Parts: sequence; C-alpha cells; structure tokens
Amino acid sequence: MRDSRETLTMKAFVVGYPIGHSRSPLIHGFWLEQLGINGSYQKENVNPASFPAFVADLKSQDLYRGGNVTIPHKETAFALADRPDALAEELGAANTLWLEKGLLHATNTDGHGFLSNLDERHPHWDITTRAVVLGAGGASRAVIQALRNRGIGEIHVVNRTHTKARELADRFGKKIHPHRWEALPEVLQGAGLFVNTTSLGMEKDAVTDIDFRPMASDGVVTDIVYVPLVTPILAKARQQGLATVDGLGMLLHQAAPGFEKWFGVRPDVTDVLRSVVIADMAGNP
Ligand code: ATR
Repeated sequence: MRDSRETLTMKAFVVGYPIGHSRSPLIHGFWLEQLGINGSYQKENVNPASFPAFVADLKSQDLYRGGNVTIPHKETAFALADRPDALAEELGAANTLWLEKGLLHATNTDGHGFLSNLDERHPHWDITTRAVVLGAGGASRAVIQALRNRGIGEIHVVNRTHTKARELADRFGKKIHPHRWEALPEVLQGAGLFVNTTSLGMEKDAVTDIDFRPMASDGVVTDIVYVPLVTPILAKARQQGLATVDGLGMLLHQAAPGFEKWFGVRPDVTDVLRSVVIADMAGNP
C-alpha cells in the first residue's frame, strides 16, 4: 500500500506577493520531472498580513517539506524561523525554508547562486583582489556577503544613497568600502569584478554613462538582473571589451540547495534547463 503521508509531504512552495511571475515553479518542475521524483512545487500568493499565519500553518500542518520565500517576505521569514543559519542571521533575510522535526530551518542561497554562476560561466574570476558592487539594497547584501566569504580582498560598494553603503560596510566588516556615486570612475580603476545589483540593469539611459574601461583588462562585469538577459550594462561592458556574465545562472543555482533539502537529491544546473527558462521568458517576459 502507498504511504499517503509520504506522498503528501513531498511538496514544496514558493511564497511571495505577488507571486505571478516567479520562474521557480518552472525550474523545480523541470528537476522533479527530470529526476522522476513524485513531488510538487507550487506558488503561494500570500499578502504580508497573512504571512505569519502561513508560517504557523507550515509548522503545525504536514502539508509542505519547505519552500522558497521571495519579495516581500524574506525578512519576516528569517524572523519567524526557529533555526536560521549563520548566513541568514547575518543578512537578516531568508529565501529557503525547510522543516526538520517540527522546527522551521532557514537559510539564504542567493550568495551561493551568485558565486556558482560566476564559477560556472567565468572560472577563476575570483583571482581578483578588487570587486565593485553597485547598489546597497537587499540583493546587494547577499552579493557582498558572498564576495567577502570567498575571500575577495577589497569590496567597494557604490550607491546613490551613501548612508546605505556605509551601513553595509558597518555590517559586513572592514573589507567593505562605501563610496558615493560620483566616485565610480575612480573606484573602477583596476577592478576585476563589477556587479550591478540595482534595477538600473533594466533601464537603458541610466547606464550609458558608466565607463568600464578603467577596469582590469581581464575583468568581468555581471548583472543580477536577468530580464533582459543582456542588460544595457552588460551590452555596454561587452562593447568596451570586457567579459560578461548574465544573471540567469544566479536564479538557477540559488534554487538547487532548496530542492536538495525538500526532495533529497542535488539537481544539476544544465544548459537544457537554462534554455527552458529562456524560452519561457521569451513567451512570458
Ligand atoms: P533589491 O532588494 O532588489 O536590492 P532594494 O532593496 O529596493 O531592491 O534596492 C534597490 C537598489 O537599487 C538600491 O541600492 C537603490 O539605491 P538607493 O539605496 O539610493 O535607493 C538602487 N537604485 C534603484 N533605482 C536607482 C536609480 N534610478 N539610480 C541609482 N540607484 C538606484
């Protein structure tokens, strides 16, 4: 006889508000099918007022093994977790939840996704001792934490609102150097990595004034924005002869650790999966 409890608990979710455009069901659905796992991964559209009740149900009912958390719930998910790991603790935000013996565990896999994407698409990028991060919002934190943990010597954070860059320097330690927007040309001198974490990746006019030529000649420019795949920042950097890495791989790689927690198998990020997501984006931007 089939164990109905086992069947019921092979379920995971992505919770957000709104959740309509999330590609996560496509990614996890691809892996479930590829690996022949009898599980499901579904969207949960939950508004902020209802999110604490959603988390309480998660703990008290045996509906899900865990799931992903996206905007605007990452901070609350961290706050409500019983066992956040050190990464989530330092970021104050979680994007991956799982249940173990009735306790809600939480981590943040955005930094892992960011590093794995660079490792895959531009091996040895991390020989640089100087990285520049544009932006000081939520996404920037995970990137800064990951670069620091990888051992990059100097991480320069440039942000429109300087106080926010300073706050990140206070939070992540002495390798982080905050700068005003105007300092960008100087800060880029000799940099081996430039990371855009702002929404400027989507806006053409706003980026045409960034000149990447002061960077090291073997430097890499990456954008965590992946719609469009070649953002105006990446297009400009390519035009100026720099290597570039698009942001789609970060989305794919950040998903893998959660899948392993819920379904017990570490899935591979392949070119086939990448093509599936690109095709979906073309039909449904
Ligand atoms: P996310 O979670 O995606 O990082 P966020 O926390 O709202 O989003 O952060 C957005 C980042 O993009 C911030 O660094 C923001 O700069 P400010 O801190 O000065 O607001 C940056 N950003 C957004 N629009 C921008 C613009 N038009 N010019 C420069 N920076 C911009």
